[in-house]
Amino acid sequence: MALEKLSADQKKQLLEAARGAVKQAYAPYSKFRVGAAVLTENGSIFSGCNVENASYGLTICAERNAIFSAVAAEGGDKMKVRAVAVLTEHNVPCSPCGACRQVIFEFGPDATVLFQGLEGMRDSRADDLLPEGFRFK
Ligand code: THU
Repeated sequence: MALEKLSADQKKQLLEAARGAVKQAYAPYSKFRVGAAVLTENGSIFSGCNVENASYGLTICAERNAIFSAVAAEGGDKMKVRAVAVLTEHNVPCSPCGACRQVIFEFGPDATVLFQGLEGMRDSRADDLLPEGFRFK
């Protein structure tokens, strides 16, 4: 379990932020709305939603939008991810895609990732979701 690093209050706030972000999603093509929220090491929370495009490949996932907002606010050299929550409007699994796993790994290899599974919320360490993720050093 990767949850010990998060207080019950932090977990609640993170899930609330992700729940709020789902409502902002732009997913007219897949109809699969996703919300994500990131807790940074300095205690701030940033959220993001998926944003699709008529040119499908331009779509960006909720997780990356949330992390990139955190980078823009705190600075890429300083921002570290402590936890990420990912959810949808419905009770369907929403485990982060491979691209998002690599981005989460970049900013928080030991971050806790909370995501909807078939039996409710699951949690995992980022580096367990992406064994041997790419890094330069
Ligand atoms: N999506 C996310 O936002 N995060 C994920 O980890 C998986 C997929 C979005 C992308 C697309 O808009 C929709 O879900 C269906 O793939």
